[in-house]
Amino acid sequence: MKISVIGCGYLGAVHAASMAELGHEVTGIDVDEIRIGSLSQGIAPFHEPGFNDLLGANATRLTFSTDMSAAHGSRVHFLAVGTPQRTNGSVDLTYVDQAVSDLLPHLQPGDLVVGKSTVPVGTAARLAGLVEPTGALLMWNPEFLREGFAVLDTLSPDRLVYGVSDDDAGAQATALLDDVYATILAKETPRLIMNFATAELVKVAANSFLATKISFINAMAEIADVTGANVTQLADAIGHDARIGRRFLNAGIGFGGGCLPKDIRGFVARADELGVGEALAFLTDVDEINMRRRGRVTEILEEELGDLKGKKIAVWGLAFKPDSDDIRDSPALDIVESLARAGATVIGSDPEATGPATRRIDAAGLGDLVTLDADHRSAARGVDAIVVATEWMDYQNEDPAAMRSLVGNPLVIDGRNCLPDDAWKAAGFHYRGMGRS
Ligand code: UDX
Repeated sequence: MKISVIGCGYLGAVHAASMAELGHEVTGIDVDEIRIGSLSQGIAPFHEPGFNDLLGANATRLTFSTDMSAAHGSRVHFLAVGTPQRTNGSVDLTYVDQAVSDLLPHLQPGDLVVGKSTVPVGTAARLAGLVEPTGALLMWNPEFLREGFAVLDTLSPDRLVYGVSDDDAGAQATALLDDVYATILAKETPRLIMNFATAELVKVAANSFLATKISFINAMAEIADVTGANVTQLADAIGHDARIGRRFLNAGIGFGGGCLPKDIRGFVARADELGVGEALAFLTDVDEINMRRRGRVTEILEEELGDLKGKKIAVWGLAFKPDSDDIRDSPALDIVESLARAGATVIGSDPEATGPATRRIDAAGLGDLVTLDADHRSAARGVDAIVVATEWMDYQNEDPAAMRSLVGNPLVIDGRNCLPDDAWKAAGFHYRGMGRS
């Protein structure tokens, strides 16, 4: 089938290549010329495991363009543009609205527009009012992919959610999207059909639940810090209860990225608009607990080293999570900046994210205090402390004895509770975790 994917960021670019992998003829469209230039040459514009191979393997079925008229003639049009956060926390729909209004002249009767972007509840019904007069159909099919696993999650999702109108048009839309996803559905992937509002809410509810789980365990870490309890052992113990589950109970410096922080704020703002703000008041606490975690590393460093002015600190990890070069709302990068603002000399390290991080550090005017080095070992040379801010496997597998001979002062702050603490202690390090003193 001929398919267009509008918006080629982390979500859209991976979706376009994955649809080509399913055998479709795909055109990816984006206003960003640099991104489209890179994708056209088969080069991934960001780090995502397996994505470069997917682009290469499907090059004959994939084209990219900055011109919306390239969508003309496709039967299905996926909307995967960004929905950034406004300063008041609400969701900025400028890109969605622009994409739809640019697409309208190219739609033909019977085409299907499939929204994948995360939008405030009520958006799909409004956009259906714009799309349906052309004779095309609209549905909402939220995306649940995790960065670092984007290819896997797109080709083998846990479930498919279809938000459709409750009429013949909804049935036609369902049948068309079933054709697109035939290979995925053949693997008995659960497919849930619901109305527009429910489908929109599924996405933000899922992310709110995950965010709440992380902030819950981080709240326990705060209690553990003043009681001498160990939050990792606590998480292991409660996680054995199948009703609770152990996943997403890792305490540390909290969640970041382009989704969880933005989505809970957007959800709170939308509930306020709908007059049901009280229902989501707890998400403001979830956000506050999460943002407090970023300051905890500086507090521990000050407890251990006193005034940080002139101290040399290595921060291992800049991306918001491992296996990604994404620095959007990254707790690690916030820590780098706040240590630099406290007067420390910071050497930030990350296997993939030093490029994007350099641009942000320079924009913050902190270039004199922060150097970036992709090699975490050389970053640790002569430092007063190592801070682990992103749990890359290379850091978890590092030999603490070798690090002991490199650093100036053997202090390690494990912001992700991911290091083998006994081994680091045995090598002579003073080890401080999060909620497990
Ligand atoms: C998230 C959702 O998981 C995904 O389903 C949705 O489609 C997009 O948003 P992603 O942003 O890729 O995916 O990251 P995720 O793996 O959820 O992690 C988010 C943040 O939470 C990271 O900063 C991670 O380090 C942090 N985290 C995760 C914790 O601090 N503790 C945990 O136990 C788990």
